[in-house]
Amino acid sequence: MSNDENEIKGMKGRILSGARPTGRQHIGNYFGALKNWVSLQDSYQCFYFVADIHAMTTLNDTKDLELNTREMVLDWLAAGLDPEKSVLFVQSQVPEVTELHTYLSMVTPMGWLQRVPSFKEQLRANGDGMNYGLVGYPVLQTADIIIYKADTVPVGRDQVPHVELSREIVRRFNGEFGEIFPEPEALLSKSPSIIGTDGQNKMSKSLDNHIELAATPEETRARVKTMMTDPQRARRTDPGRPWVCNVYALHQLFSSEATQLEVHEACTNATIGCVEDKDLLAKSINETLEPFREKRRELENKPNVVDEALREGNEKAKAIAIATMEEVREAIGFIK
Ligand code: TRP
Repeated sequence: MSNDENEIKGMKGRILSGARPTGRQHIGNYFGALKNWVSLQDSYQCFYFVADIHAMTTLNDTKDLELNTREMVLDWLAAGLDPEKSVLFVQSQVPEVTELHTYLSMVTPMGWLQRVPSFKEQLRANGDGMNYGLVGYPVLQTADIIIYKADTVPVGRDQVPHVELSREIVRRFNGEFGEIFPEPEALLSKSPSIIGTDGQNKMSKSLDNHIELAATPEETRARVKTMMTDPQRARRTDPGRPWVCNVYALHQLFSSEATQLEVHEACTNATIGCVEDKDLLAKSINETLEPFREKRRELENKPNVVDEALREGNEKAKAIAIATMEEVREAIGFIK
């Protein structure tokens, strides 16, 4: 599909976003990205992909690449990403992107990469052991976006410096070789960052402070039970402070207005304790997620759902990437 066709259909533009294959998605992934991705499908031409090459930058993430890719895509489908509306694909299935990455790397000064906050973090963590691929992470991310000539990139706040860098790389490349690529813009979702069950860090699988969308009701209850609440509420009779309590933060996402009011009042009056409060939260989460879980079970029982969604998506993505790369090689002046 070309950008012109989008205009004919009244679409706003072309979206691209991706996620590293982390397996089953958790409620932080859902509110941070997935929910937004689903809602963008009707107004944009959307491309969503599994960043499995990016997963290689941290090698311990490659053990279960295939399984994690399948589990993640199954969650995407169950959450409402629709292969009829969006192009769902896998980064490594369109290796043209690595070729573009190489060409972009030639117009990207090291200084730009060294300024990126994630580079500084990685340098602190790895020192001289930092791999070359990790340095070029945002260059590959730029290739991901522009090979499909996407103009809009829905991401979380932490990814904004990467998209800003993409714009600089595009300007440089276009300046050298002609106006080939649009300058992509980040689209920030209004969603709050979800804090994990430890009550301190952003929810993440690697910190094991997460609640999976596909968890069973029992698993969900068990996870909620471990949640940190207001640390000042040492005894059942102490009044609690919902505004500092992560259990309450999740009530605001999963519980009805009535339940929210009720627990807010009962917590501040100390008429319910944290244990009861958590029971109510687990119930709300389980009720909210049941339609997703049912859909996921349904999809799990059909053979090849993921393969079929990806086969089509990979093909569409690849056709566009091939066309872009022909244009790029021509513009650079390589022999034909
Ligand atoms: N860096 C993103 C993350 O860690 C994943 C990603 C790779 C991405 N390429 C992208 C996101 C292109 C948006 C656009 O979440």
